Amino acid sequence: MVLLGVNIDHVATVRNARGGTEPDPVAAALAAEAAGADSIVCHLREDRRHIRDPDVHELLRRISTSLQLEMALSDDVINVALKANPPEIMVVPERRAELTTEGGFDCVNHASRLADAIKRFRDAGIGVSVFIDPDASQVRKAHELGAHTIELHTGPYSHADTTRIGPELDRLETAYRLGCELGLEVHAGHGLNYGNIRGLLQRVPVAKVNIGHSIISRAVFTGIGSAVAEMKALAGL
Ligand code: PXP
Repeated sequence: MVLLGVNIDHVATVRNARGGTEPDPVAAALAAEAAGADSIVCHLREDRRHIRDPDVHELLRRISTSLQLEMALSDDVINVALKANPPEIMVVPERRAELTTEGGFDCVNHASRLADAIKRFRDAGIGVSVFIDPDASQVRKAHELGAHTIELHTGPYSHADTTRIGPELDRLETAYRLGCELGLEVHAGHGLNYGNIRGLLQRVPVAKVNIGHSIISRAVFTGIGSAVAEMKALAGL
């Protein structure tokens, strides 16, 4: 059975747009869990553009599944993560100007920094996943450096036109098989939506998919009707 991790970052994006407390990403996480989410994912970015430090602590305190904390390897965020002590972190690359995570973490070129961080987290009893492009060299390096889990970057598959879907699935499937052979747990994520998830899982049956944007976007439309009706009924409009 494939598990679903729900990323609730964009609930915090909407909250921060008004500077108040609503909508609360923790309440969204609890609702996602009530609907069957197997874990909750949030990304504590260096610029704290959506999830903030108190959100991480509240999520850890209140959710009943497990929290995967996405993060870049910056000293500031590493220290927050070690203090917060989530069950698992996921290493992602981060550039301030990007709209979202744009590529996998390069385990080959940043091997010593990654090895050092993996050791610190493992010593603290925190599992480590690394978000990588579906390339054999990246899978092997993540394994060699001691990651428990890899998350394969599905962005290129998700954004592929019809001529590129097949080759992108081939890449993902090859990386998935190699990861399994090496004993890694293999996850997938980025850009997955209601139109492309089945095509992925038919070929690449990863242990877990992490999905954020499409679920939060869909929630606006599945919820807007009842939200408007509730306001009209309440105010007699
Ligand atoms: N996995 C990783 C490593 C990510 O950075 C993101 C986006 O925060 C996701 C999964 C979820 O991607 P999306 O929001 O496109 O579903």
